[in-house]
Amino acid sequence: MKNAAFFERSALGRTLARFRRELAWVAVFSMFANLLMLTPTIYMMQVYDRVMVSGSEYTLAAVSLITVMLFLVMAFAEWARSRLLVRAGARFDEALNGEVFDASFESSLNGANRSPLQAFGDLTNLRQFLTGNGTFALVDLPWTPVYIAVMFLMHPWLGWTSIAFAVVMLVLAIVGNRIAAPGYKKVNDVQMESTGYLQSKLRNAETAHALGMLDNLRRHWLAIQQRLVQVQGEAAERTHRMQAITKYVQYSQQSLMLALGALLAIDGQISAGAMIAANALMGNALRPISLVVQTWKQFVDTRQSYARLEKLLEDHPAREATHVGDEVRGQLTLRQLQATAPGRELPILKGLDVEFRAGEVVAILGPSGAGKSTLARCLVGIWPDVSGQVLLDGHPLQEWSREALGPHIGYLPQDIELFDGTIAENIARFQPDRSEQVIEAAKRTGIHEMILRLPKGYDTPMGEAGGMLSGGQRQRIGLARAILGDPELVVLDEPNANLDDAGEQALVRTVRELKNRGRTVFMIVHQQHLLAAADRALFLENGQITRFLPLVAQNQANPGALAPVPNPNPARAGQNN
Ligand SMILES: Nc1ncnc2c1ncn2[C@@H]1O[C@H](COP(=O)(O)OP(=O)(O)OP(=O)(O)O)[C@@H](O)[C@H]1O
Ligand SMILES: [Mg+2]
Repeated sequence: MKNAAFFERSALGRTLARFRRELAWVAVFSMFANLLMLTPTIYMMQVYDRVMVSGSEYTLAAVSLITVMLFLVMAFAEWARSRLLVRAGARFDEALNGEVFDASFESSLNGANRSPLQAFGDLTNLRQFLTGNGTFALVDLPWTPVYIAVMFLMHPWLGWTSIAFAVVMLVLAIVGNRIAAPGYKKVNDVQMESTGYLQSKLRNAETAHALGMLDNLRRHWLAIQQRLVQVQGEAAERTHRMQAITKYVQYSQQSLMLALGALLAIDGQISAGAMIAANALMGNALRPISLVVQTWKQFVDTRQSYARLEKLLEDHPAREATHVGDEVRGQLTLRQLQATAPGRELPILKGLDVEFRAGEVVAILGPSGAGKSTLARCLVGIWPDVSGQVLLDGHPLQEWSREALGPHIGYLPQDIELFDGTIAENIARFQPDRSEQVIEAAKRTGIHEMILRLPKGYDTPMGEAGGMLSGGQRQRIGLARAILGDPELVVLDEPNANLDDAGEQALVRTVRELKNRGRTVFMIVHQQHLLAAADRALFLENGQITRFLPLVAQNQANPGALAPVPNPNPARAGQNN
C-alpha cells in the first residue's frame, strides 16, 4: 500500500490515496498505544523487583500513579485512532458511493450484471475492513518484532522462544486459511444460488401458482437448501477444528513461557519480575498475529471486493459530459450503428445509417426479435454495447450530460418499468414539486379522470413494479411519465400493447399533439392502424432496415380524427410518393 503507483492505478486507488494522511496519523497513535503496551510489563518488574525487595510504599505509590497516567494516555491514543478511522470511513463511503451507485446502474443496463447489489456489499466490506481490524492489524503487526526484541533484551532464550511461538501461530494461520477458504467459497456460491433462485421465482409467483409449478420449484429449492446446509456444516466443522488447535497452542504457549521464565529465574539468570513480565510481553507480541489470523478471511473477502469494485469503476467510469446543451431540437442521426450483446455472436443491429428529421413521427415496425426495442434503447442512448454513432442535434449522445438531457427525453420501455411509489411520483420521475406538470401530462394522455377515480387519486401507491394497477393503467401512466415536461425526443416501445380502443385513441391523440408541438416521436408498433399518427415508417428485419417510407400525409390534413391507415401495404406506400 506504500507504493504510489498502486494508488495511481485506478479510481479506487486514487480515492484510497486521499486517506494517506489519516493512515499516517493512525500509525502515529498506534505507535503510542503500542509503546505504552509495555507499561504493564515494566510496572510488574518494578513491583516485583524493586518494591517487594525494598518494601517502600512510597515507591509503590509513585510507580502506580505513573502507570495509571500512562494507561490514560494509552486509552486516549486508542480512542483517537478509532475515531480517526471511523471518520475516514464515513468520508471514504461518501467519496465513492455516488460513483458506485451510478456504475451499478450503468452495469445493469442490458441485463449484463447478474448481481447488481454486489457492489454495495463490496463497498461496505471495504470500508469496514479499512476502518476496523484490517488497518489495526496492519499498523500493529510491525510492533511484534519490537516486543520480541525486548524479550531478547531480557534473555536470549525468551527471545528465541517467542519467535518460535510466533512462527507456530503464523503457520497455523496460513494452514487454517488454506483449509477453511474453499469451504467458505462454496458456502458463498450456494448461498448466492439460493437467493438468486428464490428472487427470480418469487417474481413470477402468479405463473408458478396458476401452472401448478410450485411442487417442482419447491423440490429444486429444497435440493439447493440441503446442499447449503451441508457445505455450511463442512465449513463450520473445519473452522472449529482449527480454532480448537489454535486455542490449545495459545494456552500451552502461555504456560510454557512461564515455565521457561521460572527455569531461568531458578537458575538466577533473570529476576522473578522479569519472569512474570515476559509472560505478559509474549501476549503483546502475539496479539497482532492473532488479529491477522482472525481477520484473514475478512482480508481475502476484502481483496475480492476491492478487485470487483475496481473493475466495476474501471468499466463504468464517471463520464465527463463534453456537450451540455440546454436546447434540444430532437434531430437524430444514426451512423453505422451496430448494437451487440455479450454472449451473442451476431450483432443485434447491423450498421444502421439513417437520418431522421426533427419534429417527425417515425413508426418502427418489424417482426419479433428484429431489434426494435434495441434500436429504441440506442435512440435514447442506454444500450451499452454499441459501435458507430447516434447523433442528437449533431452531437454524439454519449457526449451529452445525462442529467441535463433527461428532462428532454421521453422513453416508455416495452415492459413499462414503473417504480415503487405513488402514481404522482412515478409520473413526476421522482422529482419533487411537479404536481402541475404531472396533472398536465396526465390530462394530455387522457388519464387524469381515471387517476381521480382511484381510491387515493394521484397518491395511490403502485406497489412493487406497479403491481397494484392493471396492465393498461400501467402503460398509460408510463406514457404520461414519458411526456412529462414536454420533452423534445419521445421514444415509445409498443405503447399500445395493453390498451383498449379508448386507450389507443388517446394514444394517437397524444402522439398527434406531440407532433403539433414539433416534438420528434419514435414509436414501435405492431398494429398498422397506429400508423395513422406517423409521418414515416421504418421497417426493421433481422437488425437491418429493409424499408423506410413516407406515409401519405392524411393525418396532417385531418388532425383531430383517427384517420384510417393511409396505406397498409408499405411497399405500395412508397410508390404513392
Ligand atoms: N440483453 C440482451 N442480451 C442478449 N441478447 C439480447 C438482449 N436483448 C435483446 N437481445 C436479442 O436481440 C434481439 C432483438 O431483441 P429486441 O428486444 O430488440 O427485439 P424486438 O424487435 O423489440 O422484439 P419484440 O417485438 O418481440 O419486442 C433478440 O434476438 C434478442 O434475443
Ligand atoms: Mg421489443
